[in-house]
Amino acid sequence: MKLEEMKCFLHGADYNPDQWLDRPAILKEDIRLMKKAGVNVVSLGIFAWSTYEPNEGVFNFKWLDNIIDTLYKNGIYVILSTPSSAIPPWLSKKYPEVMLTKADRVRRIHGDRSFFCKSGIYRKKVEIIDRQLAERYARHPALIMWHISNEMYGNCHCQTCQQKFREWLKQKYRTIDNLNKQYWSAFWSHGYSDWDEIESPSASIGESTLSPLAVDYNRFYSDVSIDFLNMEINTVKEYNSDIPVTTNMFHHNCGINYQKLSDKLDVISWDSYPRWHCGTDKTTEWDNAVRAAFDFDYCRTLKQKPFYLMESVPSVPSQFEVCKLKRPKMHMLSAMQAVAFGSNSVQYFQWRKGRGGYEKFHGAVVGHDGTENTRVFNDVKEVGKKLTDISELKGTTGKCNAAIIFDWENMRVLEGEVALKRNKNFHEIIYKHYEALLKNYASVDIISVDDDFSRYKMIAAPSLYSLKPGISDKIREFIENGGHFVLTYNSGIVNENDIAFECFPPYSLNDVFGVECEETDALAADDYNEIVYAGKIYKALDFCELIHTSAEVVGEYATDFYAGKAAVTKKQYGKGAAYYLACHTDDEFLHDFYHNVISEAGVYKIDVDYVQDVMIKERNGHIFLMNFSTEQRSVHIDDKKYTLDGYDYLIL
Ligand code: GLA
Repeated sequence: MKLEEMKCFLHGADYNPDQWLDRPAILKEDIRLMKKAGVNVVSLGIFAWSTYEPNEGVFNFKWLDNIIDTLYKNGIYVILSTPSSAIPPWLSKKYPEVMLTKADRVRRIHGDRSFFCKSGIYRKKVEIIDRQLAERYARHPALIMWHISNEMYGNCHCQTCQQKFREWLKQKYRTIDNLNKQYWSAFWSHGYSDWDEIESPSASIGESTLSPLAVDYNRFYSDVSIDFLNMEINTVKEYNSDIPVTTNMFHHNCGINYQKLSDKLDVISWDSYPRWHCGTDKTTEWDNAVRAAFDFDYCRTLKQKPFYLMESVPSVPSQFEVCKLKRPKMHMLSAMQAVAFGSNSVQYFQWRKGRGGYEKFHGAVVGHDGTENTRVFNDVKEVGKKLTDISELKGTTGKCNAAIIFDWENMRVLEGEVALKRNKNFHEIIYKHYEALLKNYASVDIISVDDDFSRYKMIAAPSLYSLKPGISDKIREFIENGGHFVLTYNSGIVNENDIAFECFPPYSLNDVFGVECEETDALAADDYNEIVYAGKIYKALDFCELIHTSAEVVGEYATDFYAGKAAVTKKQYGKGAAYYLACHTDDEFLHDFYHNVISEAGVYKIDVDYVQDVMIKERNGHIFLMNFSTEQRSVHIDDKKYTLDGYDYLIL
């Protein structure tokens, strides 16, 4: 069976039978319970390396043969993982250099997972074990996908990686003089005379003030990680190129540029762990749902196709400070949210709780009691049934003609910038713009600056601080051709190496937006200015730019010495419109502002006024209504009223 030919959604879990090999009865019982819960897939072997290869070169797969065959006979497909994210102790004992060297130049000793040096012997050993697995299972009829490694992260600073970094820099800059020029290295006597003088950055013991170096090291290690994953992909593909590959993505700050990695993958998958019910007075269920939605839209955008929810927790995780039980109905609601936003699966970590180790109390479909008589098991079973009922949605997505630019490289450059205010809150600001669009019930793609702009009617670029060559032209062309573009403060200030442009920002776009930013005021967390926009007063927060403008002023500052100056502008340019927000604002402003922009731009949206805590999303013509509050809510669509109790959802 090919993955894309499967008519039903995938419903399953990470399964670690290697922890139960001395208990054949348990394995048998697992299959009975899986069938009962409507599970049709499991992810196998993620951390099984020490069982596969208990000693160097001694392999043992018999146990896995039996498990895969039995699963298949029972209608359960397999996503087989390469085991590279956790190594057996013999490997680090014999080859200590497989362990990662931290930025303080101390090499780790054996333990934990993911902390490996991706440059040397570890890479060779991973290739060997992957080859063994692929040779044996790549043509097994149960296999529907390869799960490459697990949540890869970790940057190494060992001497081999340092040398590779220098080679990478040489390729990029060709001469040391050019590197010095691009790095503005006369600052604090950084001028290098030889490549060998270059050391990877280290905030604790070394370089932390030369931002181009830090950004390049991040780029370099992202490339190393992608190359490593690619080595694993090529290895398993050699044995059957028809089996699709994925790796479970999990965090925008994990050190890998996922926008770049996605080209190497057939399928995008994501691990989603919202901290349901653990809100403080500042965060609510709605906030959790917004962040989860953002990640889902991000994943769907990466290939403009449905993604797979590879991991989620069926009950409570164990790694957070406080882990509250999922309230009744939340399991179904969160599963349906993933589906609404384009997932082709609902999968869990994990099927059965192990009895020992760090995650022994982490939520699982089957607990230590081993029974099916639990709330969690019933919740999972219900989701399984629901996924069968809605299987016609598998493989589809919704309509979308708007986007937010959330660019990995821009994020890396901006995060290192310390001026004005240490924390530029980039993630929070992106979420706020995304949330405003979500509350207007518009669908949004999350794109990088390299994506095709022409498919969109509106693009928002909050804090597009760094502009690499060609991007300002791309924005200009988009607007000229009729696009509506929202740019904000902190944009067009530096090039891709964090070197300031010699102009008032935004660089090379002053004429398009009719804006020149002369100065920026930074406000502390409890400080604010005000702006007047469309007759209402809103808060201006974080950063307030003082701009000169030839555009139409649609909002102005209300207080302080820059009262009366432009805060929000709009300029017709070519066939489109260029909007500029000179400050960060409160949520209400963003909601009202985008309400106007999306109607001017003709952005696809569900025609409903925001109902508090209710998320609405369209997938293949079906409208999902999802109530993330405990209270009853009513939604009016086309003269019909739909009432949802707390944590209820409806699919229309
Ligand atoms: C991640 C990992 C899993 C497990 C879960 C626990 O997503 O991929 O192996 O550790 O976290 O939440």
